[in-house]
Amino acid sequence: MNLIHIKPNDRVFVLTGAGMSAESGIPTFRDTNGLWRNYRVEEVASPDAWRRDPQLVWDFYSMRRTVAAAAQPNPGHRALAALERTLGSRLFLCTQNVDNLHEQAGSRPLHMHGELFKSRCERCQLPFDDTNIYHEVPHCACGGKVRPHICWFGERPFGMDRVLRILEVCTVFIAIGTSGVVEPAASFVGQTQARTFYVGPEEPLNLASFDETFEGKAGELLPTLFDVW
Ligand code: APR
Repeated sequence: MNLIHIKPNDRVFVLTGAGMSAESGIPTFRDTNGLWRNYRVEEVASPDAWRRDPQLVWDFYSMRRTVAAAAQPNPGHRALAALERTLGSRLFLCTQNVDNLHEQAGSRPLHMHGELFKSRCERCQLPFDDTNIYHEVPHCACGGKVRPHICWFGERPFGMDRVLRILEVCTVFIAIGTSGVVEPAASFVGQTQARTFYVGPEEPLNLASFDETFEGKAGELLPTLFDVW
């Protein structure tokens, strides 16, 4: 099988999407049984949804907290954590996922779409660890409503300045388990001079931007995919 060769002076940028956690039992968004088959984005994952029905939004994220809390990292998460231990600061992991499976496996990702197990007051804006399931909308001591610490459609993802800086200097770019539909992540591959690779069972929308693709599941391919010199 072809491998992704990582040379001593390579700087590696890894972007993961929902497919990374699929084998851990967390549904993706756009696959057959994906979340957006059963929920309408505009009803549960946008600032308008929050203004219109904050309890429905908390019902959605409480359900996602319950599912994610029962999940375990899969061999794909563990393979990326091992690669991070080998490469140290030469590896940058950016995830679109809001679960904490990368962390549980030992990685330290940038969560560009926020974190499921954090909430924040919409007034104070400070995120805090929160695993609660809410049957009524929580409020901060300041009186503000507490919202999920998630980047909703129409909001600016987190850490973009750092992402763009690293895209400019990385020499290997690997996207794993993401359909290439949602911006700005879908454009990252076009914003780097690196050797670019895609890992997943289906062709992403931005397939043409990748130099090489590895067809298959993250948990099955990643443990033997990297050849670190
Ligand atoms: N291993 C690797 N990839 C997989 C696996 C697997 N076991 N199973 C499914 N996939 C792939 C699918 O082929 C698909 O390309 O994962 C991808 C999942 O695509 P989406 O459901 O669109 O998820 P993602 O690309 O992460 O969505 C991006 O959209 O709704 C927003 O904020 C949400 O972060 C999310 C963003």
